[in-house]
Amino acid sequence: SDRYAVFGNPVRHSRSPDIHHAFAAQRGEDLSYERIEAPVDGFPAAVAAFFDAGGRGANVTVPFKEQAWELCDELTDRARQAGAVNTLWRRDGVLHGDNTDGAGLVADLRGNQGWALGDKRLLILGAGGAVRGVLGPLLAQAPSQLVIANRTVARAETLVERFAGSGVALYASDLDALQGPFDVIINAISAGLHGDMPPLPDGLVGEATVAYDMVYGAEPTPFMKWARAAGAVAVCDGLGMLVEQAAEAYQVWRGHRPETAPVLTGLRHAQG
Ligand code: ATR
Repeated sequence: SDRYAVFGNPVRHSRSPDIHHAFAAQRGEDLSYERIEAPVDGFPAAVAAFFDAGGRGANVTVPFKEQAWELCDELTDRARQAGAVNTLWRRDGVLHGDNTDGAGLVADLRGNQGWALGDKRLLILGAGGAVRGVLGPLLAQAPSQLVIANRTVARAETLVERFAGSGVALYASDLDALQGPFDVIINAISAGLHGDMPPLPDGLVGEATVAYDMVYGAEPTPFMKWARAAGAVAVCDGLGMLVEQAAEAYQVWRGHRPETAPVLTGLRHAQG
């Protein structure tokens, strides 16, 4: 059977094996997909060993996405732009890397949630690796403007410089100076999973604002609670993005895009 894996540290909570096994079952494809916890200083060796042993493809998660980007011999355009790789494969000894996170986010926002992005005012909270990984595909949706707001505004400014020239009005802001309302608010402040949201100014949420957290959990995240309280008309976590980026990776490896809706439904039920 064809061997796949996800590399991370820690990786034991990764849902990727369940997702890819469910995709494979749709057409009775014979594959295995395992979790590999590479040592923090041993990612290149672990990847080499996996492909030397016949591995067909791998996903990469925290904290190795930037290292994977450096390791690849060939990058897709979207991976080069993202500065991070979440999907690997090796062909004729050449290690290839792609980044499917942004496409997965857009597929969830547009396809699953039915939220249009074109001509909308977008706000992204955070300016870390997660944001850099998805900015290209978000800008390609041609929002009327996109504001990156971050506690450390210099990091937001660096992203604005990196992604300049898309044709979209792209701005950096600190969190306090933000002026709403926005049509779509996407959270990528990683403290949002466990801790509290940093305080945000009033007026970000308007009458038709929708809100999306790139993380997911069994409980609504602090950002989701904030958005609901502020009056967002729809609020969603990032589980759909996880399934959609996996479907994009599956397509890169195997040439066809699996059905995501039943897999997402299954995960939601498993989550209870
Ligand atoms: P990721 O890969 O999740 O993007 P990261 O690169 O460490 O991880 O980025 C974390 C993001 O969460 C950053 O935008 C960070 O803000 P800073 O750049 O100012 O550090 C943000 N963040 C984390 N904890 C935060 C907090 N308590 N308040 C505000 N922002 C926070």
